[in-house]
Amino acid sequence: MKQLGIIGGTGVSDLDGLARVASHRPDTPFGASSGAIEEGLLDDCRVFFLQRHGRPALIPPHLVNYRANLWALQSLGVTEIVAINAVGGIAAAMQPGVLVIPDQLVDYTWGREHTFDDGSDGQLRHIDFTEPYSRELRMALLAAARSCDIACQGAAVHGVTQGPRLETAAEIRRMAADGCDVVGMTGMPEASLARELGLAYASVCMVVNPAAGLGQEPISLAMMREILEREAGVVARLLRSLVGQRYRR
Ligand code: HPA
Repeated sequence: MKQLGIIGGTGVSDLDGLARVASHRPDTPFGASSGAIEEGLLDDCRVFFLQRHGRPALIPPHLVNYRANLWALQSLGVTEIVAINAVGGIAAAMQPGVLVIPDQLVDYTWGREHTFDDGSDGQLRHIDFTEPYSRELRMALLAAARSCDIACQGAAVHGVTQGPRLETAAEIRRMAADGCDVVGMTGMPEASLARELGLAYASVCMVVNPAAGLGQEPISLAMMREILEREAGVVARLLRSLVGQRYRR
């Protein structure tokens, strides 16, 4: 049986329409998750919701306990994860307000606890990560977007930087040359940890600013919040549509 978990990003502290049933703080071998995991009903379907940056949202991207978050979600029965990520736009098509389901990523993060595979169970593993996101879940998200007339791009390369500072203009030029279309700080190691646990994982990226050196003004949290507030309803509508199509029992 498929069970959806949603990881909220910057600006997504609550899931619109979620009727709360319970709140969980499961123990994990890696410590505590970013906060309580809310169990609730979205249009009568059970979903679990976790805010990646905590509540209030004060945990910066490089200090998120990604291992605990994914372990905790799986321990509650979650089998599939939709992650919400605020990103900067690098490619010309990735203007503020654009919604995109990335199909690839490039990992520029460092020093994060990024794997469950430390050999302690006597196994040496190398997960296949050719396609970092679940194709099936990506297609389900795109079908859900189509069915409720939400404009959503179907592919992008998501470059994930360490943060919490934003990038330099030269770093963004390098990322563009590397093939990155959008830039965020929380896509990794979340995606690879999900793969290690055998969880289907896809990301919904909301472009909230032009990446460094590409816009007219300095990048500010206020400009990101403005877009996030404006577009939050669209993400919520997309999730409800997905739930209705994929998880209704
Ligand atoms: N860079 C990195 N992460 C981000 C950005 C950005 O421009 N916007 C939102 N998250």
